[in-house]
Amino acid sequence: MPDQIKIAIAGFGSVASTLIKGLQFYKSSTEGLWHPKLAGFGITDVIVTGIYDIDPSKVGKKVSSVVSDYKVDSDLIIQPGISEDPVSHSFVQMDGAKSASYEDVVSSLKKMNPDFLINLISSGMDKSGEKYAKAALEAGCSFFNATASKTVTDQTRSAFTSKGLMILGDDLMSQFGGTAFHRGMMEFIIHRGIKIEKAYQLDVGGNKDTQNTMAEELRERKRKIKTESISVEVPYPFKSTAGTTEYAEQLGNSRVSYYWMEAKGFLGSTIEMDLSLKTNDSTNGCNVILDSIRAAKMSISKKDLGKSEIISAFAFKNPSKKVKIRESIKAFEEAFTN
Ligand SMILES: NC(=O)c1ccc[n+]([C@@H]2O[C@H](COP(=O)([O-])OP(=O)(O)OC[C@H]3O[C@@H](n4cnc5c(N)ncnc54)[C@H](O)[C@@H]3O)[C@@H](O)[C@H]2O)c1
Repeated sequence: MPDQIKIAIAGFGSVASTLIKGLQFYKSSTEGLWHPKLAGFGITDVIVTGIYDIDPSKVGKKVSSVVSDYKVDSDLIIQPGISEDPVSHSFVQMDGAKSASYEDVVSSLKKMNPDFLINLISSGMDKSGEKYAKAALEAGCSFFNATASKTVTDQTRSAFTSKGLMILGDDLMSQFGGTAFHRGMMEFIIHRGIKIEKAYQLDVGGNKDTQNTMAEELRERKRKIKTESISVEVPYPFKSTAGTTEYAEQLGNSRVSYYWMEAKGFLGSTIEMDLSLKTNDSTNGCNVILDSIRAAKMSISKKDLGKSEIISAFAFKNPSKKVKIRESIKAFEEAFTN
């Protein structure tokens, strides 16, 4: 397929800047890619055409100057985005968020004409996320929601579908993060005929997003999404809790997931597991984003919009149709890797 995939990004934080570094790095390598070629596209077919943020220390600057720890060839200037939620204390100290009107963002999206708007704004910015989805729809581009805000509903899906577009979400599931690993373990234990009785996953992270997730309402929502996502693997009720437990600045962009599980085997014998997994949040999300948009681009070109369910089940913790992790990968690879 000769096409390119044009993307615009809302929220130039840790994940977006890692994505930009990846697009630069993968011009000359394929090491670390989950699917170097997918749906007929390589990584070099993905082009970033626009970036929005509201942080006054980023808006108006070149991407290459904000990503100061890596050499990227990009002259893109970070544009002001939509701001519909209360902003952080640090922005207030810098005279508030640098934002643009909804109409301005729609018209800039129309000018750039990207295939996708990728929502990577801070956790908890629900109203802004909703407006970005609306702006994408109005401008005629598909929408990918990495945040935990609920954006994919029957209503939004049919609005996007009626324009030949896709809306994908919600809440990105990292390639090998706390949730994916937990689900994989559960699946294996069940396949070995062991009965899971109790389990927990406690996540501790040191990045800005973890800090934002500490707000009680958001922490509760994330806990619900993660716990429900894990329960998909287990065909009976059991005592389970999974959530972001603490912000520890000294971890930087790392996240440590602590798992504990108690299960029963032959004659009620106890099997207990206690382990931890340390990963890097932002790199962990990028393969999944790049795979999903390549799959979605092919499906949209073929007017096969129903494939959004396969893509969302593969890429998100809270898709509208949840399936077991192994089945989601199988369905995704069967549909897009030949
Ligand atoms: N693997 C992962 O990293 C992962 C997994 C699941 C979900 N997510 C979600 O992806 C999103 C991005 O994660 P991150 O670690 O890059 O977050 P981050 O906090 O590092 O970056 C968020 C960026 O969004 C900007 N922003 C805030 N409100 C905005 C608005 N209204 N318009 C435009 N920009 C705005 C902030 O200024 C910041 O630059 C988060 O919502 C996170 O929960 C990430």
